[in-house]
Amino acid sequence: MRIADFELERYFAQWEFAARHILCASDVEPYQLDELLALADDDSRHRWDTLRLGYTESLGLPVLREEIASLYHTLSADHVITFAGAEEGVFIAMHALLQPGDHAVVAWPAYQSLYEVARSIGADVTLVSLDPRNWSLDVDAVAAAMRPNTRVIVVNSPHSPTGAQISAADQARLVSIAELHGAHLFSDEVYRFLEHDAPPLAAAADASPRAFSLGVMSKAFGLAGLRIGWIATSDAALRARLASLKDYTSLCNSAPSEILALIALRARRVVLARSMEIIRGNLQLLDAFFARNGERFRWARPRAGSVGFPELLGREVDPFADELVRREGVLILPASRFGYPGNHFRIGFGRRNLGAGLERLERFAALA
Ligand SMILES: Cc1ncc(COP(=O)(O)O)c(C=O)c1O
Repeated sequence: MRIADFELERYFAQWEFAARHILCASDVEPYQLDELLALADDDSRHRWDTLRLGYTESLGLPVLREEIASLYHTLSADHVITFAGAEEGVFIAMHALLQPGDHAVVAWPAYQSLYEVARSIGADVTLVSLDPRNWSLDVDAVAAAMRPNTRVIVVNSPHSPTGAQISAADQARLVSIAELHGAHLFSDEVYRFLEHDAPPLAAAADASPRAFSLGVMSKAFGLAGLRIGWIATSDAALRARLASLKDYTSLCNSAPSEILALIALRARRVVLARSMEIIRGNLQLLDAFFARNGERFRWARPRAGSVGFPELLGREVDPFADELVRREGVLILPASRFGYPGNHFRIGFGRRNLGAGLERLERFAALA
């Protein structure tokens, strides 16, 4: 397989563990193991203490899949397949849906794997640009891009990097377009449950067997290191293809990760409240920062999720970001890493130490 470098991930590979202040992380402040274990109910604590470290069931631990299914209105454990993070789900879903010569329509900018895996398979990809004035998706443009060989429409809401949220009406139209063309709607919902300024959107998988939802423990649940993600869908044929492809990738989940994910999902009221508290506190810091620095940055306030996509004014963002990380140890993610033109950059506000990084960014921007 030939596939282009994943620009965002290559950038993180270089800097994520070298820079002191990560201002562009997309996850929420990770839990420490003892902090998470303190949330365990008796059953999951017993499972943790007596855990056998062998192979696990390929689709995922049944009680974990049950807990994941309870995040949806119409689904049961049978409708859920777990993966090594959302990323394995993306890779496998694309391979399940696409063959060389097929066509995919992808809302853009996007997390690169959402279109790059399709390209690597030999599918033709049409990127439909979000409107840079408010990052909304033009559903008519999606409809216009459909071809007889379109197999999948890919959207991501809450959206990375912009923090935009699709409306329920637009989601319903996207489902209808997919149904009409015999395609699937691939709904990347990894930032679900972080709707700080927008109504929560129903999961696409609840709407139609032609739609499926991608979820993960990494973002709202603060557990990226578990590498537990999932696809939820009522399409049995699609699930069968996903399951057989997983035999060639991770095969099964890490046993400890399954139990830790179970603990967090059962304690999700507490877990999600913690995440929203961090996010709301950080958004206040960001609002104040951008109000003070309005001549240097343009801030389109995100509505959902843990990332936003402000614009640097009056200078190029790539050299700015490079100098910022080398001199101040502050990492931002320039738009070029999304293949996106101009001077936007991704900022993440799920981590607890945002203030210290912002102070350095402010000082550097004033001097640079
Ligand atoms: C939109 C989107 N989809 C999928 C993923 C992959 O998630 P994970 O790293 O948890 O596998 C990410 C990660 O940043 C993402 O932003």
